[in-house]
Amino acid sequence: MIPSIAIRPLEASFGAELSGLRIAGDVAEADFQAFLDAFHRHHVLLIRDVPNDPAAQVEFSRRMGKLEHHAAASAVHPQFPEVFCVGNYAADGITANFARGVEQWHADSSFREVPSAASLFYGAICPPEGGETWFLDAVAAYETLPETMKARIEGLRGVHCLYTLSEWNRRHTPGRPPMDEAKRRAFPPVAHPLVRTHPVSGVQSLFLCPAVISHIEGMGVEESAALIEELMDHATQERFVYRHRWREGDLVIWDNRCTLHTASLFDHEKYLRLMFRTTVAGTA
Ligand code: SIN
Repeated sequence: MIPSIAIRPLEASFGAELSGLRIAGDVAEADFQAFLDAFHRHHVLLIRDVPNDPAAQVEFSRRMGKLEHHAAASAVHPQFPEVFCVGNYAADGITANFARGVEQWHADSSFREVPSAASLFYGAICPPEGGETWFLDAVAAYETLPETMKARIEGLRGVHCLYTLSEWNRRHTPGRPPMDEAKRRAFPPVAHPLVRTHPVSGVQSLFLCPAVISHIEGMGVEESAALIEELMDHATQERFVYRHRWREGDLVIWDNRCTLHTASLFDHEKYLRLMFRTTVAGTA
C-alpha cells in the first residue's frame, strides 16, 4: 500500500512536519513505516491538529515500542498511567508536573540504565505566548566540534542521576519536597557515554544533560561542570536549535537518542498549560 503521508522539513537544520498521518493504534503498516523512516531521518516530527485522545496516543506510541511509566507517579494521567502530564494544570484528577526552571537541556529518562528512545508530546492546553519547547540537533552539534575536542571527550562517560535532577528542580521550584529514599534506591546513578551512537542510524551525537549529570567519571565535579558547559556553549548555538511554538492539537515526537530539548518559561499565573507525554523505552 502506498503511504498517504506528506513530509515537509521544518525551518531548522533538522525536524519535519508530517501531514496525513492518523494517530491511532491501527494506523496502516505502510503509513507507520513511512512515519518511522521520517523519524529516523529527521529526529523531530510535528503533526498538527491531532484530536485530544490520550487512549489513541498511547496505542500509537505502543507501535513504537514498550512504554515507560514515569518516575513522578503523582503526575500520571488518572485513566492512562502511560501518560505523563506536564504543565501547571491541576483539575479533573490531573496534577501536572510543573517545574519552573528553564533551559534545562536534556534527553528524557537519561537517569535510567537504558534511557528512553522517543517521546510523544501533545499540546492539550497551550498558552498563547511562551511555553515553547526547544530542540537541539545533538548530531550536528557533535559533528561540528573541533577534532581536538572530539578526541578529548572520546570514551568519557557522564554519571546521570535522578537525585541530582531532583535537587536542581528544588533549587528552581521552591517548596518541592526532596526525593524520597525509596526513589533514590530505585534510580541509582548510571554512567552513559558523552558521545552516543544511534542504534538504528549509527549516527553519533552529544549526550549532555547538565542538570542530570552529577559529574563525569574520573573527574571532579567542578572540572566536569566546566567541560559540560564548554560543550553546551557549542551545542546550544542558534544554528542547532529549533524552537517549537505550540498550538493546541500539536503532537511533537522526538528521538531522545540524538536530540536534546528543554521547556521554556510562560506566565503561569496568567495562562494554563497541559501537555501529555508518552515515552517509548530504549533498547539496551
Ligand atoms: C520535557 O522537558 O520533557 C517537557 C518539555 C516542555 O514542557 O516543553
